[in-house]
This record gives sequence, structure tokens and C-alpha cells, in this order.
Amino acid sequence: MESMKALQKKAISDIEGSKTLEDLRNVEIDIFGRKQGRLTAVLRSLASLSAEKRRVLGGEANKLRAKLQGKLEEKKRSLEKHEQARAMQSEKIDVTFPGVKKEQGHLHPLTLVRMESERIFNALGYAVVEGPEVENEYYNFDSLNIPKNHPSRDQWDTFWIKSDRAAAVKGKREKPEEKYLMRTHTSPVQVRYMEEHNPPFRIIVPGKVFRHEATDASHDFEFWHLEGLTVGKDVSVANLVYTLGTFFKKIFGKESTIRLRPSFFPFVEPGFEFDISCLSCRGKGCSVCKQTGWVELGGAGMVHPKVFEAAGYAKGEWQGFAFGVGLDRIALMKYKIPDIRLFRANDIRFLKQF
Ligand code: PHE
Repeated sequence: MESMKALQKKAISDIEGSKTLEDLRNVEIDIFGRKQGRLTAVLRSLASLSAEKRRVLGGEANKLRAKLQGKLEEKKRSLEKHEQARAMQSEKIDVTFPGVKKEQGHLHPLTLVRMESERIFNALGYAVVEGPEVENEYYNFDSLNIPKNHPSRDQWDTFWIKSDRAAAVKGKREKPEEKYLMRTHTSPVQVRYMEEHNPPFRIIVPGKVFRHEATDASHDFEFWHLEGLTVGKDVSVANLVYTLGTFFKKIFGKESTIRLRPSFFPFVEPGFEFDISCLSCRGKGCSVCKQTGWVELGGAGMVHPKVFEAAGYAKGEWQGFAFGVGLDRIALMKYKIPDIRLFRANDIRFLKQF
């Protein structure tokens, strides 16, 4: 068995020689460790001694234990102080160091196009009006001269909603038995607005619309429309063409030609679809315009007398034009985006580009 003298000498020099808390912990284990500890071994060996020797040596061993524990404690405190001081040194703050920039959010491309469109139409004297996205059947269809069971309803692929799920949509023609749907266009806001206002007026209605459709690069089941409605005494197709022409020139920052093609929408007469000359190829034909030189942007026409009637206007008193433009289409062309589905995929790599 190691003599207590030798044990004491080595233990004290080990404790004092410890440079770090980690060193000291190893020394502590070397002395007091339950399995290999040197003092532990001494204490254990006392059991085999005679009662007399055990009393003497036991007393000494306990004294030594107390002494070494005291030394360990002392050394531990001084090492802790040192390590703290060292940590403070390395944590010094350089107040001249540039700060970390917080990443700033920015607007979605569709929001940019909507806001820009609103600015342009404001300058042309148009007020911005909104309407509900959950619409009832009357405003979305019937009031716009699209009766139930009429084949023209097939133009709009519709998401119907269980009525008890639909939030109350206020309107003059609210009936409890009404069926609800996600609006397929912003045209119902024409009637909602006319019920509450008398002409003359000019409004635009930007808003989300929904269609039960298979998606591809140019079709989504949710997209943005911008409805326009001008009603007055002498409103004509010429005014419509001028208004659309001015809008497209401003939004694209480029001169383009507008083309009206005869088309059918039950709430206008005559009705048109309108195209603008392709901005990518200046009308020569490319992949954007599918080699036609023209890009279709929406529907338009002169407000149908049946719609004025639904709004409660006196017969024959007013004239107006209405149009609906796809804002997604405009954004696709303006920013040269190849797929409409990118707008709602929430891919940060896409969104960061705007
Ligand atoms: N609401 C029509 C659509 O969904 C577009 C349109 C608006 C047509 C106004 C004529 C007048 O396609």
C-alpha cells in the first residue's frame, strides 16, 4: 500500500500543477475516484488491519481526505476565476463592427401589378372597389344574365360551397336558400356596386377569382381579375378601346396595338375578347403568342340592358362598358415568367427576384 506521506505529496503537487478545470477534475478522480482512487484504496485497505492500527491510520486518512478536499476546492475556485477572465477577454465587443442586416420582405409580383394597375386607373378617374370572394349564385350568375340551366354557365367551372359553411355575404338580393360558390369572376361586383350607386361613375374591381380547372403553365384554379365598369350617358366602344389602350401602354411601358374580336358573354352586348400585339416579338410570332402575334388578355363589351335592369336602373337611360383583364397574364408578360403556377408555389427562389 502506498504510504500516506507519498500519497499526500503527489496529490498536492498534482492539484497545484493543474492548469485547467479539466486537469483538476482528472486529479480529483485519481485521488477520490470510487474504483481507482488512490486515497480510496488506502481507506479500503483499513478494513484488513487490527482494530488498534485501524483507529490510528483511519484517523490520519480522514484528516488527509479533509485536507485534500480543501486544497481541491481552493484550486477549483482560482481556476474558475481564471477561465472566466479568459472568456471575457475573448468576448470583447467591437462596437465599430458592421451590424447584421435583417432581411427585408417585399411585395409579390401580383401585388406589384395590382398596385400599379390601381395607380393607372386612379389617374383615369376610376375608383377601386372590392367584393366578396365567396359569392352567391344570384350575383355570380343570374344577375349577370346567366340563368340556371343555361349552357353559357359552362364557360365558368365553378367551386360550389355548402351554404352552411359560407360566411354571410351581404347584398340586396340575399336569400336564405341561395347557393354559394367561390366567385368565378369579378363581374358580380358590377351589380353589387350599381345597386348602391347611381351613374355616372368609373370603377375597377381587382380581386381573386376561382375556377374548377386542371392547371397547366397558363391556367390555375385561382387567379386575379381586374374588372372595369364605366357607366354614363354617352359611353361607347371607342371609350373602351382608348381606356384599355392607355392602360396597357402604361403597365407595360411599351406601345402596343389592341384588337377586339367578337365574342359572347351574357352580360354584355356586343361582347368582345381583346388581344394586344405580342410584346416579346412585336407581332412577328413567337412562343409567347403561340406564333399568332397576339396575346389574349380578357373579355369586354357594352353592359347588357338585363344587367342594368338587375341593378334597378331605369330602362334605356344609361350606357356603359365593362371589361375583365387577367392580372396574372399581365404579370407573366411583364416579368417574362414562364409558368402561372409559380405565383402560388411559395418558392422563395422565385419570389426573391422581385
Ligand atoms: N367576367 C368575364 C370572364 O370571366 C370577363 C368580362 C368582364 C367580360 C366584363 C365582359 C365584361 O371571363
